[in-house]
Amino acid sequence: MTNPFDLASEAAAKIAELSGIQNHDIALTLGSGWAKAADLIGETVATIDATQIPGFLPPAVHGHVATIRSVKLPSGKYALILGARSHYYEGHGVRQVAHGVRTAAATGAKIMILTNGAGGIKETWKPGTPVLISDHINLTADSPLEGAKFVDLTDLYSSRLRAIARTVDASLDEGVYCQFRGPHYETPAEVQMAKHIGGHIVGMSTALEAIAAREAGMEILGLSLITNLAAGIQKTPLSHEEVIQAGKDAEVRISGLLAEIVSKL
Ligand code: HPA
Repeated sequence: MTNPFDLASEAAAKIAELSGIQNHDIALTLGSGWAKAADLIGETVATIDATQIPGFLPPAVHGHVATIRSVKLPSGKYALILGARSHYYEGHGVRQVAHGVRTAAATGAKIMILTNGAGGIKETWKPGTPVLISDHINLTADSPLEGAKFVDLTDLYSSRLRAIARTVDASLDEGVYCQFRGPHYETPAEVQMAKHIGGHIVGMSTALEAIAAREAGMEILGLSLITNLAAGIQKTPLSHEEVIQAGKDAEVRISGLLAEIVSKL
């Protein structure tokens, strides 16, 4: 099997060839509810079907987008937008999960913005609330790192970038993201466990990607859209349709927020 870093370099070379952009400065992974930010942050220079790029697979989830875009920001910098995320629950392993951020790093990106739709544990968060990720608890019992790589994860979700985000919206709350394996939603007891160990947000992505991004030397900004209150906190059953709908309802507002944050980086 190809070494994951070589595969990421091949992917970056293909992106450079197809987009005509040799270096990107910032990369974004747009999860549920965040996709419209791609249209708002700048001028799209290239839209590439992710499956044309080495190592990328078609998305497993209906409602997710499988494109990679190169966008020129008003500042003249270039952003790489990954619409295609491989989730850990798809079962293709941690290399597949980390491939997007490793590719982003190989294109030159120094800042990785990871977004997702997630469940909220804090009852004051209504569906549609965007939240900054301050830290994470990785409950997958896995790591994207292989071998003796003792990577420091202090300030993994950059306090500098969170402060910049707060200059755009001072009311942005923050919380600790717990990555569960999924694809089932959590039980109410698991949500209570997450709460007791210091979690505020539950989801099925981001933590493993953040670790890989840190290994690659990137500075990370994490944002969750609370699409629902987590199981047992909300009294009604969870559904994927509800999650997608909450994302759609909040999309214009939160994408505008993200675009403004990007303009300050
Ligand atoms: N749990 C896990 N993942 C999610 C949720 C949730 O409640 N909502 C959206 N993604």
